[in-house]
Amino acid sequence: MITRRVLLGKIGITGGAGATAAAMQSLGLFGVSNANALPALPPDHGKNGHVIILGAGIAGLVSAYELEQAGFSVTLLEARGRVGGRAWTVRDGDKIEMIGEATQTAKFTEGVYFNAGPARLPSFHEGILGYAKKFGVPLEVEVNSSRSAFLVADDGKKLRMRSAINDTRGHIAELLSKAIDKGALDQAVTAEDKARLMPFLRIYGDLNQEGAFTGTTRSGFATPPGAGTSSFETPAKPAALSTLLANEQLPMSLFEDALYMQATMFQPVGGMDQISVGIERNLKSRAIRHAEVQRIRHDAKGVSVTYVDRPSGTARTVKGDYIVCTIPFPVLAKIDANFSKPVAQAIAAVLYDDSNKVAFEAPRFWERDHIYGGITFVGGDTSLIWYPSANLHSERGMLLGCYSSGPKATEFRKRPLTDQIAASRAAIEKTHPGHGKDCVNPLVVNWKKVPFSLGPWPSWNPGQGRQEAHIDTPEFRLLNKPDGRIFFAGAALSQTPGWQEGAIQSAHAAVAALAGQVTTRALTRSAGGSAQAA
Ligand code: ALA
Repeated sequence: MITRRVLLGKIGITGGAGATAAAMQSLGLFGVSNANALPALPPDHGKNGHVIILGAGIAGLVSAYELEQAGFSVTLLEARGRVGGRAWTVRDGDKIEMIGEATQTAKFTEGVYFNAGPARLPSFHEGILGYAKKFGVPLEVEVNSSRSAFLVADDGKKLRMRSAINDTRGHIAELLSKAIDKGALDQAVTAEDKARLMPFLRIYGDLNQEGAFTGTTRSGFATPPGAGTSSFETPAKPAALSTLLANEQLPMSLFEDALYMQATMFQPVGGMDQISVGIERNLKSRAIRHAEVQRIRHDAKGVSVTYVDRPSGTARTVKGDYIVCTIPFPVLAKIDANFSKPVAQAIAAVLYDDSNKVAFEAPRFWERDHIYGGITFVGGDTSLIWYPSANLHSERGMLLGCYSSGPKATEFRKRPLTDQIAASRAAIEKTHPGHGKDCVNPLVVNWKKVPFSLGPWPSWNPGQGRQEAHIDTPEFRLLNKPDGRIFFAGAALSQTPGWQEGAIQSAHAAVAALAGQVTTRALTRSAGGSAQAA
């Protein structure tokens, strides 16, 4: 069986997702938000309980919201000056600070923005879509694939996606029909199925009556239809099978079939951060910004967190009953905390992947080439060109010239930003000759260098690519359990570390576990007032 992981590994999906579709089906995870359903908690469940939440990304915000709904009081600490964590939308004037690099300042025409982190939401991610709906965050379609986009071979030869998909299908259908004709599949196919398969293959591959593939208008026109009899449509000459197979990017013609990438996909209108902003708007107490956590303590009686207000340098200590900690593990590993030894060791052991994005602003030259959203796959160091879905037909847009992860992203990130920009512009020039120079005001985000993130997501199963299906390492299991009164949460602790849905599932699991501990302590108290009860 070709698993999705194999497929995604092959097609080099940038970050990609956890489970294969088959695995998800077998696990019954469709409708994934139900996989970690939040228990219905009475609104006074957390009465008198105070939870300190570390990090106001999606996991922290969702934890804060759900805990507040269950009657807890919440202190939400965020080191950055904004909420959202990796769900970061860069707009004109915003600064990109990266460790070891000069600060970049975004220069964008009004309405142009860059989602430096997540940029698409699958239809089946009910959790994130659900919060967007609940809080009135407007969504629009994210056009994740375009049949007008290209697969660009290493030698520069380009195939339109429509030709790559339909010509490949035509050739394979013809080969199959020939094999059936010759009786080569008589052992494998019943006579009845054979009789049905042949007419189906003719439709599937757009074969002629003889079962030959001679081209299809699915792949485009050689001559387009015109008015009256001025021009009759004719199909484009099909790409030869050898040409198709020689294009290293051909497997990427299946990108849009990966479950996580299937239409319809969504994005919030105006930027991905709008969902985080929408959740925060519905909190009773907003995130305390610029609060950099320096010390974490927990014991049988409670918790305390010391943070520094970054602008003033003032240290403050807040005490509470529980902590939900969503701080990325490479960041957490450097914070003074009295975690149990195995937990501290697990935190220190989590390796993070690399992921890079390079964005430009440009006049919409790709739309003149019939490309409205979608992705061109270029391979190499930069992987792809991703076209904007919003504000179609406006003057200018954000063009993503690189989005990669995994080992090649690790090497790419080590290069000077100017080189990263040049490589991205070169890939655009190769695909859209003459337009590399139109791409201006570049911005680079190397997630490994982004303070308070230090990476996009863990590589739980290193050596197997990137975020993997079936994450089940000892560290992963341990960190999915509380350390006393501290509960860890974040997409990193889900089976989909690179999706906001994973953050929501993990937050729900943490809230459920915390609520359970509250119940257990209350029961312990009422059953005889154990010394441990708080
Ligand atoms: N979820 C991330 C993406 O869509 C990794 O590329």
